[in-house]
Amino acid sequence: MPALPAMVADAPPTAAQQDAALAAAGGDKELAGYIASGDKLFHSSCIACHGKGGVGIAGNGKALANNEFIRSLDDDSLLAFIKQGRSPTDPKNTTGIQMPPKGGNPAMSDDDILDVIAYLRTLQGTKPSTPGGK
Ligand code: HEC
Repeated sequence: MPALPAMVADAPPTAAQQDAALAAAGGDKELAGYIASGDKLFHSSCIACHGKGGVGIAGNGKALANNEFIRSLDDDSLLAFIKQGRSPTDPKNTTGIQMPPKGGNPAMSDDDILDVIAYLRTLQGTKPSTPGGK
């Protein structure tokens, strides 16, 4: 497993991440802030296994873009899933590879994960909803 940074909330999202987030949020600045933060957190904690833009990496994390599992869950359920992960022995595991709890980054707070979820919603081909709990 790749080394993951212990601290994730030290630098703001890049200008490009903020622009993309504002476009994905349809001009909603508050939602765009969550998405841009989630984009940045995805890059530090998820991209190594799930690939740029969540396209997936063969032999590692599944594609998270246009993903039925993500679409089927509300933000709270997805938050619970990401906190728990999915072990290779879980009957629902399809790759035989572990999805580590919080992507292996224990420093991630619930709010951080909800931001990542807001970002993941932008990869589903539909307009994202406001993240739960905010
Ligand atoms: C060390 C590699 C790794 C990291 C890092 C990682 N994942 Fe995963 N993830 C996986 C693997 C492998 C699976 C597929 C497990 C299976 O076969 O069911 C998975 C599955 C998932 C799923 C379920 C997809 C589905 O269709 O069932 C979601 C959602 C997810 N990951 C989100 C995340 C998020 C968000 C992060 C960052 C916080 C993250 N992952 C970080 C390896 C990783």
